[in-house]
Amino acid sequence: MLRRDFLKTTSAFGLGCVLPISLVEVAFAKETQAKNFTFAFISDSHIQQIKGNTFVRNWDKGLQRAIAECNLLDPKPDFVMYGGDIAQLGKPAEIDHGLEMLSACRSDLKVMLGEHDYYLDLGEHWSKRLGAQYYSFDHKGVHFVVLNSILTDDAWTRKWSSGEERMSVMAGLDNPLSSPFMVGAAQRKWLADDLAKVSKKTPVVVFSHSPLQKIYKGWNFWTEDAELIQAMLKPFDKVNVIYGHVHQIQYNQIGNISFHSVMATAWPWPYPATFSQEKQYLPKLTIEMNRADPFFERDGTGWQYIDIHSGNIDMQYLLPSNENRKIVFNTKTKRPEDSKYQKNKIPPQKHY
Ligand SMILES: [Fe+2]
Ligand SMILES: [Fe+2]
Repeated sequence: MLRRDFLKTTSAFGLGCVLPISLVEVAFAKETQAKNFTFAFISDSHIQQIKGNTFVRNWDKGLQRAIAECNLLDPKPDFVMYGGDIAQLGKPAEIDHGLEMLSACRSDLKVMLGEHDYYLDLGEHWSKRLGAQYYSFDHKGVHFVVLNSILTDDAWTRKWSSGEERMSVMAGLDNPLSSPFMVGAAQRKWLADDLAKVSKKTPVVVFSHSPLQKIYKGWNFWTEDAELIQAMLKPFDKVNVIYGHVHQIQYNQIGNISFHSVMATAWPWPYPATFSQEKQYLPKLTIEMNRADPFFERDGTGWQYIDIHSGNIDMQYLLPSNENRKIVFNTKTKRPEDSKYQKNKIPPQKHY
């Protein structure tokens, strides 16, 4: 099987990220006592209730397939992180149905909140089922942080006549009545306290639903206080941020932080540049995938592997109706390069 061959042939320092699952192998230098391990990442299933026990079949199938693939992974991941947007309109029935499917997962499951899970009842049902909306944990020498990055202004949150109205505005990709996401002051204070207890040499992995970078405000590919979070992560030797929400391939490096997006099990979004009128800032190291076929919901989902030797990125994407792609870190130019597309078009990376 491809994924197994890939893991065998890459170095012991591999981080494999797969679509719709991400398998991440965290590896340590030989002199440390820490043991390598893997975890997987599944995101953005958008389970949608039609009526009663009837749900949109394609979105169900995307999640079921991701879980089935996850259960076949070798090595078995130490845990599976679910990246948010399990529901489409935040309904308890959607969250419950999604969690019921996720219960087939044979690894320890951790779950993160997306805006589609939140804005109907401000996370009430989600929290009743899953507990804390942000937390951290340590696993085999790595410090993991899970953020709720989809909060927004209180005034915006309170101004709607019903939760349904608020949810339907937030659920639209390009609704101008929407409001930019943020982590917010209370959680930033929690994060500062949390990180203060961690050695700067400890590898840190941050999971967020929205990108902790400002990409395109019009579609809420945006976290208002991204720079403040990046500044808090800057003192650490190596940080990886893994996020969902954008349903497309993106990657970037800002100083010590590597950013990896994970695609959706539901559908791919196009890139904002395809019709944005406002400024947009696709992360500069992103090489856009081919435009996915909008009539084939599995196009733009598939497997993605990320190998992060010292945070340098080697990626391989397997997308059903798109040509397979390989992106390899070039140690001479110190930037990831696509082996086929746009090889010479990426500007040299700035050194921070
Ligand atoms: Fe999503
Ligand atoms: Fe989202």
